[in-house]
Amino acid sequence: MKASAISHSNIALIKYWGRQEDGGRGMNLPLNDNVSMTKEGISGGSKLMSHTTVEFSRSYEMDSMVLEGRELTGRELERVRLVVDPLRTKAGVEEHFRIGSRNDFPTAAGLASSAAGFSALAIAASSALGLDLSREELSTWARLGSGSAVRSLHGGFVYWHKGSSHETSFAEKVCQGAPFPLNAVIAIVNEGRKGVSSDVGHEHAHTSPFNSIRTELSQKEALLVRDAILDNDLRTVGSIAERNSKYMHAVMMTSDLPLYYWQGETLKVIRSVHAMRDRGLEVYFTIDAGPNVHCLCRPEDALEVQKELEGGEHVLRTIIARPAEDPHTIDEHLF
Ligand code: ADP
Ligand code: DP6
Repeated sequence: MKASAISHSNIALIKYWGRQEDGGRGMNLPLNDNVSMTKEGISGGSKLMSHTTVEFSRSYEMDSMVLEGRELTGRELERVRLVVDPLRTKAGVEEHFRIGSRNDFPTAAGLASSAAGFSALAIAASSALGLDLSREELSTWARLGSGSAVRSLHGGFVYWHKGSSHETSFAEKVCQGAPFPLNAVIAIVNEGRKGVSSDVGHEHAHTSPFNSIRTELSQKEALLVRDAILDNDLRTVGSIAERNSKYMHAVMMTSDLPLYYWQGETLKVIRSVHAMRDRGLEVYFTIDAGPNVHCLCRPEDALEVQKELEGGEHVLRTIIARPAEDPHTIDEHLF
């Protein structure tokens, strides 16, 4: 009863921020449908990937997990159990688990390590338990660990139906990368752990006066972006994604736990994106719960965008990412 899996992180083009009230903290039901690109790093030495090994055995006296050499405790281990427990029950297994996981990129820095991690966890755990589940169903189990993980169960471009129950809140593939050639050049301005996790941040979204309008607009924009991806329309995808990211940060900054994920360097990158666009280079930005900036552009423009961003002293390094393949099990175990 041992299996390993890899899964990539994803970047939201339409954001998930705040949870449905009756979905509580346990179910991670989003307020609006949302859309993302599952991303594979192709430069900078990072594939933006988690590698997870899960083993169930009678020889383990308790559940445990090591992430990046660190034994998880408290809420972090509880989130892992939220995914594994229902799968273990489904399989009729009572043994405890031992899990090891590694991210090949910074954890908790706004690059969605939780998305890659919980997606890899759901795949490895279900495989170790001998369950044969569809990607859609697996996405619902990954969601219990981290909302955005639901979207990493597919490669390419992905649509998360908000749903209104555990079964109806799942991820569906829009398309693999080819119909919509897109790269994200990630400008890393800080690799440190963020001060307030998204997990906590979501709980405060409803206290912002802008929360309901963000939700309403995002629901419409999710559909527009899905259509624009299928139409290979970068201008529409990019401009809506950029605007949608700003709506989310407006909610974050105006909630009763004010969250300022941007740093001075973040704003400098935003200005560079505007300057490149003024010069006729088609590039748009989006920012998650952290100071780093994803710059969306055509693959043929990625090196020029990278060069421009790396020219600024405020940028520590960049990673170019493209749409990733589907996550899958692998033979190499971590222990
Ligand atoms: P990020 O932007 O990196 O997703 P979050 O604060 O939302 O930041 O999530 C980070 C948390 O996600 C970690 O503290 C850990 O609890 C969990 N996490 C990250 N990577 C993994 C992994 N590979 N497996 C399981 N859990 C993970
Ligand atoms: C800002 O999925 O990290 O990246 O459900 O608590 O794990 P949990 O939150 P998480 O939230 C990510 C929010 C975001 C936007 C997005 O990815 O849609």
